[in-house]
Amino acid sequence: MPDASAPGTDNPGAALLCVEGLCAGYSARAPIVHDLSLALRAGEIVALLGTNGAGKSTAMKAMACAIAPFAGRIVCAGTDLTGAPSWVAARAGMGYVPQRDNVFAQLTVQENFAVGARARNGRDGPDTDAVLALFPDLKPRLASRAGVLSGGMRQMVAIGRALLGAPRVLLLDEPSAGLSPLLVGRLFARLTSLRQHLPILLVEQNVRAALAIADRALVMVEGRLHLATEPDDPAVTAVLAGGLAV
Ligand SMILES: Nc1ncnc2c1ncn2[C@@H]1O[C@H](COP(=O)(O)OP(=O)(O)OP(=O)(O)O)[C@@H](O)[C@H]1O
Ligand SMILES: [Mg+2]
Repeated sequence: MPDASAPGTDNPGAALLCVEGLCAGYSARAPIVHDLSLALRAGEIVALLGTNGAGKSTAMKAMACAIAPFAGRIVCAGTDLTGAPSWVAARAGMGYVPQRDNVFAQLTVQENFAVGARARNGRDGPDTDAVLALFPDLKPRLASRAGVLSGGMRQMVAIGRALLGAPRVLLLDEPSAGLSPLLVGRLFARLTSLRQHLPILLVEQNVRAALAIADRALVMVEGRLHLATEPDDPAVTAVLAGGLAV
């Protein structure tokens, strides 16, 4: 069994998401993400951290099959998704909330939810009522176009849409972006309540909030997994502050 604390590796164990040797980017001549391996197991929240430009979003896009990897393997809930299109990944149980453009702005909240539910593929999962119980602020806005909502509300729509696809794993790229501290607290409390049924890979600039709910922390530096450790390991903040000698 690999050492989970060694640089460049993360223990695969009994993973719902298993990523091995992922290489990805926007030009094969200049990959952004190099040889990234990680695992996400039932019941856990894993924080994927790194300074701006470290490659977190690129790695997530590749894991969600929004961009094709140059090398490596992605397996979600037992389905090998390597090279698959993103809709196949969604139907296999890959829930993904991108950092940007994560709602259909011209569609209503309800229509966004309906699009999400198309990924369900026969799995049991939360219905609209369950999502509205999680995000009650959306209840009076079901008929509103998503594009007119505040940043915080759009984040809730995006997460709600992903949940309606009954995902087996959830990839969240900066869900707290643009939210007030109060809303961040509420959102993260709700993420914690989801963890039991749905493991979450969480990319966050709000490092303190992410580490407070994470079971493990992964830190990327220049496209590579530099550290895989406990969330309270001081090395995490040291690496993020620029002290790379870990
Ligand atoms: N669509 C794109 N085309 C070309 N290069 C891109 C594209 N998106 C990102 N990049 C480049 O890839 C590198 C990694 O960016 P990425 O967005 O993955 O980092 P990140 O860790 O998510 O950063 P942030 O914390 O700012 O969100 C950066 O050098 C960035 O300029
Ligand atoms: Mg990013």
